[in-house]
Amino acid sequence: MPGKMDDIVALCRRRGFIFQSSEIYGGINGFWDYGPLGTELKRNLKNAWWKDVVQGELIGPDGNPVDIVGVDCTIIMHPRAWVASGHVGGFSDPMVDCRESKARYRADHLMLLGARGEAASQLFAFVSGDDKGLATARKKLEKYLKRSLADGDLEMRPFTAIGADERAIAVGPDATEKGTLTEPRQFNLMFKTLVGAVEDPSNYAYLRPETAQGIFVNFQNVVDSSRVRVPFGIAQVGKAFRNEVTPRNFTFRSREFEQMEIEFFIRPDSANEWYAWWRAERYRWWQSIGLAGANLRLREHDRDELAHYAKAGAGVCDIEYKFPFTDPDFGELEGVAHRADFDLRQHAEHSGKGEKARYFDQERNERYFPHVIEPSAGADRGTLALLCEAYTPDESRASKVFMKFSPRMAPIKAGIFPLVNKDGMPEIGERLWRELRTSHAVEFDEKQSIGKRYARMDEAGTPFCLTIDSQTLQDGTLTVRHRDDQRQERIAVDRASEWLNTAVSGA
Ligand code: GAP
Repeated sequence: MPGKMDDIVALCRRRGFIFQSSEIYGGINGFWDYGPLGTELKRNLKNAWWKDVVQGELIGPDGNPVDIVGVDCTIIMHPRAWVASGHVGGFSDPMVDCRESKARYRADHLMLLGARGEAASQLFAFVSGDDKGLATARKKLEKYLKRSLADGDLEMRPFTAIGADERAIAVGPDATEKGTLTEPRQFNLMFKTLVGAVEDPSNYAYLRPETAQGIFVNFQNVVDSSRVRVPFGIAQVGKAFRNEVTPRNFTFRSREFEQMEIEFFIRPDSANEWYAWWRAERYRWWQSIGLAGANLRLREHDRDELAHYAKAGAGVCDIEYKFPFTDPDFGELEGVAHRADFDLRQHAEHSGKGEKARYFDQERNERYFPHVIEPSAGADRGTLALLCEAYTPDESRASKVFMKFSPRMAPIKAGIFPLVNKDGMPEIGERLWRELRTSHAVEFDEKQSIGKRYARMDEAGTPFCLTIDSQTLQDGTLTVRHRDDQRQERIAVDRASEWLNTAVSGA
């Protein structure tokens, strides 16, 4: 459904949710900036995660409160940490270069188009999921065959399924000649940088591709400096960087993004119960912030999909959302994985701490490397899912569309409007705005007609508009206009603060 996605991207730019990074220079592929409304939305998501999960009052499968503490680690870590984690050796995608266009593609994203049942002497490549790219490849094929083709005449195959002979007749997505696509080669996704002034390989370092490793390398520090005991978790929210080969689908696959990760340390023999508990809990949480419908699903990985460290574990699942660009398929919002003791063991070995780094369980009087259940979520993908879920076309409204955020996630909780700019209405409105803004993101707007002000708030996804009108002057009440059904009710001005507290926290 590319049309809907185009509309969402346009609204995000128009209303200041998300802009292309460095737009005035033509943008930079795979990087995005959040505008005023987007910043509030993403902050609401991250704050809800921290409050509900890290500081929350969750009860674990053992009947005890779930204990989680936070860390805030550096983006650049000791380069050996990435050797230990496996990212230096293995964090790579198979890449294909086009010698003609100089473009680079992920091999597993490339498809080849040909005519069914014909021995081809040219095949035309396109990036899977790119409708425009497919249309271009089809035009090239029809031009080459000098006839038009019905949908049923088309044959598509993954680039990874072909050999050298067929590669020699493949025309790249942005090329005109055949045989310009290279064999797939591994390409490391970590951004490399230099620490210090001397340009020497010994000074190379990496921008972290996940926040998780900062947690693992601080495991011992946290145990030694706080009162946590297994089972407990360490949480971190922060930026991660991956030099994605084909960043695409708006913020979904970016080169700089934010993660919300927990490494939850458990006794090895309790992995099954904690994995099942986290799986259910994380799914419930995404539903609780407004992704309650059929667009959200939980998908357990097949055994052959699992990462090396997870093969023998309790399981790995993804919480997925049906984005307009994945529809009818789903895209990952969060992964929940039993990583066993892989990371703690790796860091113990590579740092030279060895078996001394094992955790001492006082209750059992034994030493072991705790196992880990890792719920790892993306703040940008979460924000994008909230935007897609909220987007509600409505031809009957002046704005033609409104954003149906839950009041808790909404960037602005209430608009405050004097109906006209006279008779003391602006003064009452401004007083109310000053009072409400101490607890909530609220906006005072006295410009243009009331219809236009409602329309602006509908596009921003503001759940309530509070209007001061002539009746306010007589009986001290104001009109509340509800965004979703446009219902109106009157409440006392001096109860508005209490009313808004309940309306925002109750949802
Ligand atoms: N520590 C485990 C880990 O990093 P991951 O599945 O690679 O696992 C976790 O990433 C989450 O981070 C994903 O579910 C997704 O929400 C987010 N994420 C990963 N790559 C991303 C990208 N290129 N752009 C935006 N978000 C991304």
